Amino acid sequence: MSEGPYSLKGAVAVVTGALGKLGPIWMETLLDAGARVMGLDHPDQKPGEAFTALRKQYGDQCVRHVAADVRIRADLERACDLCTEVFGTPAILVNNAGIDQPPDQPGGGYRLEDIPLEINREVFEVNTLGLFLVTQVFGQTMVKAGRGSIINIGSLYASVAPDSRFYAHIQSDPPFLKPPAYGASKAAVVNLSRYLATLWAPNGVRVNTLSPGGVLGGQDDNFKSKFCARVPMGRMATAEDLRGPLLFLASEASSYVTGTELVVDGGFTAW
Ligand SMILES: NC(=O)c1ccc[n+]([C@@H]2O[C@H](COP(=O)([O-])OP(=O)(O)OC[C@H]3O[C@@H](n4cnc5c(N)ncnc54)[C@H](O)[C@@H]3O)[C@@H](O)[C@H]2O)c1
Repeated sequence: MSEGPYSLKGAVAVVTGALGKLGPIWMETLLDAGARVMGLDHPDQKPGEAFTALRKQYGDQCVRHVAADVRIRADLERACDLCTEVFGTPAILVNNAGIDQPPDQPGGGYRLEDIPLEINREVFEVNTLGLFLVTQVFGQTMVKAGRGSIINIGSLYASVAPDSRFYAHIQSDPPFLKPPAYGASKAAVVNLSRYLATLWAPNGVRVNTLSPGGVLGGQDDNFKSKFCARVPMGRMATAEDLRGPLLFLASEASSYVTGTELVVDGGFTAW
């Protein structure tokens, strides 16, 4: 467990989208630094290997999971009550729940003019409005307590458009298009963070965006080599690359940092 300004000893944290790919990475980082963590995810999502391993390692007294849809206020109020009851008032919120449309999922092949509005609506509803709703519910408890750090997970696509050549090798007619709402929903998160940061600065609550670049996962080799060629550091992000930036924003190490976007993309958006 880290000491000094990076220590989260005694702090209570909430992570949304806790059962996905990045959720357990954020949770482990917070747990390692001494926090107790309530993971929140959609009722249809079941705990996977990574989350189950955390439960086993840290136990019920430090890590729990609650089912809640970030689009439903009553779910979030229940989750907030449970968190307060079992762990105490949260001081850290990681707004990580989000949806995208990876190319290996069916239904990504649209001409722009034919993309159903429903797909774009859902992306905004979860990535932007859901994040706002979670922040209304949990952020309010932080404001009342007079302290807190909210970390909104953005994306490199908050700053730049996805390069469609990354997907050109995928056999699909019409060709795969990343949902245009994805980057737009993340860009909105960056500015929403600034709004909340200025509003809540007098209340001791800091709000920042952490925007990861592409994180190494199950992407195909062709995609990976095209993507990495665009990254000055020549590789995709790993879990290790993400831990330090999260801990920095969550802890007192960033006590004078609010309203900013920390881009963790190996330099992707620098050229
Ligand atoms: N993986 C990457 O390369 C990458 C890069 C940049 C940004 N991001 C962002 O990081 C975050 C996590 O990404 P990930 O790769 O872990 O994705 P993921 O799909 O593996 O996990 C997202 C989680 O959010 C949950 N979720 C979705 N809709 C929800 C809802 N309505 N209510 C509650 N939970 C809901 C899902 O159930 C899932 O567990 C997302 O916001 C994503 O946009 C990811």
